[in-house]
Amino acid sequence: MRPRRVTVFGAGYVGLVAGACLSKSGHTVTVLDVDEKKLVSLRGGVTPFHEPGLDEIITGSIEAGRLIFEHPSNVTDFGEYVYVAVGTPSTSTGSSDLRFISAVVEQIVSTVPAGTIVIMKSTVPPGTGTALAKRLEAHGIGYVSNPEFLREGNAVKDWYETDRMVLGGNPETIDKVAELYEDILAPILRCDIPSAELIKYASNAFLAMKISFANEIANLCNTVDADVTTVMKGVGLDKRIGGSFLNAGIGYGGSCFPKDTRALDYLYSVNGHHSPLLKAVIDVNAFQRRVPVTAIRHRLGDLHGVRVAVLGLTFKPHTDDTREAPAGDIIRMLLVEGAIVPAYDPVGVMDFESDQYTQVGSVEEAVRDACAVIVATEWDEICDADWKTMTATMAEPKLVFDGRNCVDPAAVRAGGGEYVGVGRR
Ligand SMILES: NC(=O)c1ccc[n+]([C@@H]2O[C@H](COP(=O)([O-])OP(=O)(O)OC[C@H]3O[C@@H](n4cnc5c(N)ncnc54)[C@H](O)[C@@H]3O)[C@@H](O)[C@H]2O)c1
Repeated sequence: MRPRRVTVFGAGYVGLVAGACLSKSGHTVTVLDVDEKKLVSLRGGVTPFHEPGLDEIITGSIEAGRLIFEHPSNVTDFGEYVYVAVGTPSTSTGSSDLRFISAVVEQIVSTVPAGTIVIMKSTVPPGTGTALAKRLEAHGIGYVSNPEFLREGNAVKDWYETDRMVLGGNPETIDKVAELYEDILAPILRCDIPSAELIKYASNAFLAMKISFANEIANLCNTVDADVTTVMKGVGLDKRIGGSFLNAGIGYGGSCFPKDTRALDYLYSVNGHHSPLLKAVIDVNAFQRRVPVTAIRHRLGDLHGVRVAVLGLTFKPHTDDTREAPAGDIIRMLLVEGAIVPAYDPVGVMDFESDQYTQVGSVEEAVRDACAVIVATEWDEICDADWKTMTATMAEPKLVFDGRNCVDPAAVRAGGGEYVGVGRR
């Protein structure tokens, strides 16, 4: 593979993984970010977030002279390829806020020479890329939509072992982008720009739908005395369905599913359409976050002054990302109810302006003297803790609400506690 010179805008979960992995593949990469603190940390070889395997790649590439970190205003030579991997958060209407994209595109248009190719990794609503491509083409700059499907916590592996590479644009430009990925053995789907953009939203909406579906079935399991773990295992063994994303629990979170389902819903409505299915997916997920608080209130009554521990603050294990994590809403609800909330997470941090909330240093410390515990993230350290001993240290009624169905109910009961899962017997 011929090494290329590449620039990546954005040193976040996507941009940093892209930059690091491209440099590992032999390309010379400059990763740009406007966050000076991030740049200082990265130049010292310290990854500013938790992503297994990323530190080693960054350190190796810095030593090999193939990876540097810069502020965008200090760079004039962007190389042959420019990736855009800045954030596209939700606005209050649910639409995507494209401010960061616009700022980057303005800089690209005024700085990079004709012949450069811009590769869009950020998730942008269908239609965005067509307009950007037109604007860039007027300056002789190519454009390819290359949506990212990596999962935080598994990002490095997902980069190299992605199920598919989606490249949207004109065929010649796509060919040039495909040359960057010669060491990635994934099928390449070549298509037009809006289709590439919609593949990303449709994929996330479909996965979110699987989760919400499993949660609806879980809520029925409680009524008909079935066990959701067994039911969804039986459903997922059907190859037409597949077993992934069928775990019932307190719903999805993170920086992608909530924002991308909202953006897709907005896209429907702004175009005069309506997706009842998508609305239901979003609605079920919002309901699911309330299930633990409802269950605890039902069992304990008034929560004023009652100690309720929350275990797991990140939206899933193996990441420190707490964006839109169910734990955030759950803690906010508990605080509104007047509860005292000790919380624990192995790497994630959450702050609340309340002296009723404290983040403590271990699972055991959080659980001790709590009347109820909510397991919000399935970190191994939380699921595999000594629940028998820990439950014994709780205050009555020692209620353990397992929001991820990952704790052994027998261990909780052996410690004198009450176990409640999500649709789990
Ligand atoms: N996080 C994921 O798992 C994931 C997966 C697939 C796709 N995506 C999409 O990728 C995009 C990026 O997501 P993320 O999670 O990496 O975001 P992030 O918030 O972690 O990182 C974005 C980075 O861009 C930087 N930035 C903002 N303006 C800039 C500018 N003008 N120049 C240089 N840097 C700038 C920010 O300082 C920040 O460090 C989003 O559109 C997201 O939807 C994310």
